[in-house]
Amino acid sequence: MAGARIKPLVAGNWKMNGLAAQLAEAEAVRAGMGSGSPAADVMICPPATLLGRLSSALEGSGILAGGQDCHSEKSGAFTGDIAAEMLVDCGAAAVIVGHSERRAGHGELDRDVRAKASAAHRAGLTAIVCVGETAGERAAGLTETVVCRQLEGSLPDGATAANTVVAYEPVWAIGTGLTPTAEDVARVHRSIRGALEGRFGAEGAQMRILYGGSVKPSNARELLSIDNVNGALVGGASLKAADFLGIISAYEA
Ligand code: 13P
Repeated sequence: MAGARIKPLVAGNWKMNGLAAQLAEAEAVRAGMGSGSPAADVMICPPATLLGRLSSALEGSGILAGGQDCHSEKSGAFTGDIAAEMLVDCGAAAVIVGHSERRAGHGELDRDVRAKASAAHRAGLTAIVCVGETAGERAAGLTETVVCRQLEGSLPDGATAANTVVAYEPVWAIGTGLTPTAEDVARVHRSIRGALEGRFGAEGAQMRILYGGSVKPSNARELLSIDNVNGALVGGASLKAADFLGIISAYEA
C-alpha cells in the first residue's frame, strides 16, 4: 500500500470552541490513550487562548499541541495576530494554515497561506496546509484542478515530510455530515501524492496527507484505510474525548 510506512497523524481542530472547562476533554483523551505507544501521532489544536494550558496539561503524554493559524511575520504592529514563534512559546509543535474557513472568512489566498507555512517552518513548527474544493467546483469537475493549484501556490519550496502535512478537506464535507466516497478520496489523495512527488521527490512521497471533513468514529476505519490517507483532521468529533478516541482507535489492530 502506498504510504504504508508513513506514521499517521490524527489531529483535532477545535476551531473557535472551548473555554477552560474544555481542557477536561483533552485530559480524557490522555487518560483514554493509556501509556502504550499508539499507532498514530495524536494532536489537538485548541483556540489560541487555551494553547498554553493545553500544552502543560498534556506534557509527557506524547499528545501534540497545535495552533489554528499564524501570521507570516515574527512580530510587529499586527493587532490581534499571533506569530508562529508565539505558538512555539506556548508549546505548539504545529500550526494549521489555509483552512477553508480562513480562506473564505478572511480572504486568505494561496500566497498568504504559503507565507504562513514558511513562517511556521522558520519557527520550527510543522505546517498543516489545508486544501479542498467547494461544492460548485466539485460539480464542475474541477476537484483535482483546484486542489493541485492550491497545493502549488500554498506549499513553500522548503517543504519536507518532517515540516509539512497536507490536509485535504472538501469544503462541502466540513461540518455537514457528508463525505466523499472512498473511491473519490482515493482518487484525490492519489493526485495529491503525485503532485507532492513531482515537486518534492522523495520528501513528497513521505509527506502525510490527511483527510478532513465529517470524520467520526463510525466512518473513520473506512476513510483511514484508503491508500495515501495518512490520518485525519477532525473538527466537531474532536470536541468530545470519546468520539476523538473512537477515531484514533481506527489505527489499533
Ligand atoms: P468537521 O470534522 O466538523 O467536519 O470539520 C473538519 C474540519 O474542518 C477540520 O479542520
